[in-house]
Amino acid sequence: MSSEEYNFLRNVPIFADLEDKELEKIAKLGTRQKYKKGNIVVLEKESGAALFVIISGKVKVVRTDEEGREVILSMFGPGEFFGEMSLLDGLARSASVVAISKSELFMIHRRDFLESLHQFPAIAIALLAEMAMRLRKADMQIKSLSLKDAAGRVANVLLILADDVGVFRKGKVEIDDLPLQQDVANMAGTSRETVSRMLHEFVREGSIHLKGNKLTINDYEAFRKTHL
Ligand code: CMP
Repeated sequence: MSSEEYNFLRNVPIFADLEDKELEKIAKLGTRQKYKKGNIVVLEKESGAALFVIISGKVKVVRTDEEGREVILSMFGPGEFFGEMSLLDGLARSASVVAISKSELFMIHRRDFLESLHQFPAIAIALLAEMAMRLRKADMQIKSLSLKDAAGRVANVLLILADDVGVFRKGKVEIDDLPLQQDVANMAGTSRETVSRMLHEFVREGSIHLKGNKLTINDYEAFRKTHL
């Protein structure tokens, strides 16, 4: 296998501690799959037996209710993984995962992944660290949804997006492809109108800059301090 064929795994934090030879082994265990924008990769409540790593593109993790209303739990980009929950506990998929841009994913089956965890405990440790981080974010979301007003909840979603898909530069964070206002509303547990009003308010006070669907948080630390 040429180094190009497993190089994509080098930027994946859970594989960061592996040697070339080991990365090559992992690459051989899985397959690369392409998805178009809007394709469903994983469906909530179905049984699941594979883990996915994002090589390129972006996905959203969503849960829907009986009326088809959707709440976005998270978004992931290159180097991140999903599908570990049902792989580890053997239950149904906890949420659906949908490609929100053209994406290439690396899929690895349960048995092969579990075997690589036994063989390379560094992967298991990195996986646990990432799951702890996700629990912290979920805790932030719970706090925000239960304790914050609309401004705080919208700000919290912007901070989550900044952490998930933002590009940090000199204290600012740029979020390209801001999700639709309806999606932000679904993440913040509020209405689209409220999101629109809050974004205008943040622009007016100078804490964010909006151009098309590119959003910049002008001073990430200050914004975080004010709203967390
Ligand atoms: P799994 O349950 O196998 O399939 C859906 C995946 O979505 C799940 O594994 C996780 O990878 C991901 N997921 C579910 N809930 C959350 C959450 N609250 N935050 C981040 N990722 C999640």
